[in-house]
Amino acid sequence: MTTAPANAPMPPHRSQLTLIVAATQNLGIGKNGTLPWPSLKSEMAYFARVTKRPPHSSPPGTKNAVIMGRKTWESIPPKFRPLRDRVNVVVTSSGRLAGVEPEKAREQAVVVATSLEEAVGCLRPADEKEDTGTGDASTSLPPIGKMFIIGGSSLYRAALDLPQAKRVLLTKIYKDYDCDTFFPLDLEGEEGKRRGWVRASKAKLQEFVGEEIQDTRMREGDVEFELCMFERG
Ligand SMILES: NC(=O)c1ccc[n+]([C@@H]2O[C@H](COP(=O)([O-])OP(=O)(O)OC[C@H]3O[C@@H](n4cnc5c(N)ncnc54)[C@H](OP(=O)(O)O)[C@@H]3O)[C@@H](O)[C@H]2O)c1
Repeated sequence: MTTAPANAPMPPHRSQLTLIVAATQNLGIGKNGTLPWPSLKSEMAYFARVTKRPPHSSPPGTKNAVIMGRKTWESIPPKFRPLRDRVNVVVTSSGRLAGVEPEKAREQAVVVATSLEEAVGCLRPADEKEDTGTGDASTSLPPIGKMFIIGGSSLYRAALDLPQAKRVLLTKIYKDYDCDTFFPLDLEGEEGKRRGWVRASKAKLQEFVGEEIQDTRMREGDVEFELCMFERG
């Protein structure tokens, strides 16, 4: 575990943020600290591929970052965290993570930040020169390709308020589940439109995720879902 520099300002650079979320039509994303739906293997594999794949032109050694709230971190089974081949950044006001021993911190490759701004501020985009003073934590981290906000609700809300949040990868789950945690904005509703969110074409989605998608509408068991992307300028 690496601790982000205290009070790191949000850097003015090109750290674009992409939110990635799966939600029911009522915007439900969670229930009792876990996902409301049974494991959707193909959707989880899509999440893993997309969040791991750095941009085409990245220098060698570049990794993407996944930024998450403390409860989302805790919702990941211990054997799967930190999420492999990505820099994991966990936001918690306590600045500490239960179960992560400080002496094993570095090898566990987890950054702890006390705010989203601090989380983004400790990451150095691969296309930025090293001498921009982004803080000590950045020196032990690889250059960062894409920065993903992977949940949960409060972190999505904080991210949507930042101008750096330019994109949402939304998997629409076309089945109702009882949920207690919700995505904070209906991107296709009045407020979403007012805030500039527009659904992107399939071509743009494929270009961003870096893979061909045969059919954005998919089914696993009796659960139908659709891969979508929303953008704002
Ligand atoms: N469907 C999906 O795509 C998806 C994705 C992610 C998660 N989920 C689900 O969502 C649920 C978890 O989400 P959640 O909304 O309850 O919790 P969360 O956002 O993952 O974690 C909340 C905690 O994170 C910290 N935090 C969040 N925003 C912060 C900020 N701006 N500044 C400082 N600290 C901040 C706080 O930790 P402290 O209390 O330690 O200060 C807060 O209590 C689970 O059910 C999970 O399975 C679903």
